[in-house]
Amino acid sequence: MPAIEVVLGDLTTQHVDAIVTAANESLLGGGGVDRAVHAAAGPELAAAGSRLAPLDPGDAVATPAFRLDPPVRHVIHTVGPVWEGGGYGEADLLASCYRRCLEVADALGVRSLAVPAISTGVYGYPPADAARIAVSTLLGTRTGVDVVRLVAFDEGTRDLLETELAAQGGR
Ligand code: APR
Repeated sequence: MPAIEVVLGDLTTQHVDAIVTAANESLLGGGGVDRAVHAAAGPELAAAGSRLAPLDPGDAVATPAFRLDPPVRHVIHTVGPVWEGGGYGEADLLASCYRRCLEVADALGVRSLAVPAISTGVYGYPPADAARIAVSTLLGTRTGVDVVRLVAFDEGTRDLLETELAAQGGR
């Protein structure tokens, strides 16, 4: 399992091999963290993403990072579930996002990965439940990735992630 760290910051300024963006199925970019990633990576990101779209919820796919500064080499696009009350497999889909991102990262030889709080913005996933799923899935998945950095954009999300990491005995 990877070492997990929690930081408060902007996903697009993280010095890691790859970043994960919380995308939609078109991979053309949108709002939230996806908008920031596409703005930083440049228009080539949407062009590359559109050639791989549509991407199903729970899945992940990689493109180059284009204009993002090194050491970032890859953008891993994942589509989180839209929260619809919890009775439509949202938890399994969210866990699948984290698992698939690690699988894609492993295939690329990624050793450090930065990940936002997938689905907790526009898609409305309850942040505490999402934090628990993120940490438990990452801790429970065998991977060659050494460090997964959970990047919170607000203090509430940071606190939830840190609480989950402490509760689940993450390094
Ligand atoms: N760095 C890190 N985290 C960020 C940033 C950023 N620059 N900007 C936003 N976030 C955080 C949000 O505060 C939230 O905690 O990312 C988390 C995920 O929120 P969204 O970006 O809204 O993603 P999501 O809820 O998965 O919705 C995806 O929104 O942006 C569109 O194209 C995207 O249609 C897709 C949907």
